[in-house]
Amino acid sequence: MIARRAVLALLFAGAVFPLAAQTGDPLADRFGGPFTLTAHDGRRVSDTDFRGEFMLVYFGYTRCPDVCPLDLLTMSEALKLLGPVAGRIQPLFITVDPERDTPKLLADYVQSFHPRLLGLTGSEADIATAVKAYKVHRVKYTPANDPKTYGVDHSSLTYLMGPDGKFRTLVPHDTTAARMADILRPYLAREPAK
Ligand code: NI
Repeated sequence: MIARRAVLALLFAGAVFPLAAQTGDPLADRFGGPFTLTAHDGRRVSDTDFRGEFMLVYFGYTRCPDVCPLDLLTMSEALKLLGPVAGRIQPLFITVDPERDTPKLLADYVQSFHPRLLGLTGSEADIATAVKAYKVHRVKYTPANDPKTYGVDHSSLTYLMGPDGKFRTLVPHDTTAARMADILRPYLAREPAK
C-alpha cells in the first residue's frame, strides 16, 4: 500500500532531481546517507562498502501484499535487460519492518527475485536512520480483515545512487522494466567503470 500524496510529491521530485544530480546542485544530496545494517547472510554492511558500484535501493517488507513483489520483479527484469553492465549495480532491499524481517526471512525472499539482491535489516534504530536518510514514508496500519496483525504503509520508489554513494535519480512505482532499464543506462554510460 502506498500513500498517494507522498508518491505524487516524490514523482514530482523525480522529475526534478535527475537534472539536479547532473548539475552538481546540492539538492542532489536530499536522498541517501550513511547506514549500517545486517545483510540477509548475517554480515554487517555499510553504505561505504558499495563505493565504486551503483546502488539500486528499494525499501519494503517481506509481508507486503502487493507493491513490493511487483517493484522487485520490475527491478530484477530491468537488471536482466541491462545485460553485463548490470554487474556494476548492487541491488538492495531494505526492510521497513525490522521487527518481523529477520535475515533468514529476507534471504528466502530476496533470492526469489534476483540472485544478487541483498536484503538488509537491523535494529529499529538502524532502520530508522536509513528510512530518514532516504525520506521514506513508513507508517504501520491495522488491516480491517485481520486486526491481530499489522501492515506497513510505505513509499515505493527505487533510488539509484552513484559510485560516490550520492543520489542520482528515482524510479517511481508502475515503471515498466524496459523503462527502468532505459532510465538507468545513461547513468552507467556517463560514469564508466574504472
Ligand atoms: Ni511493499
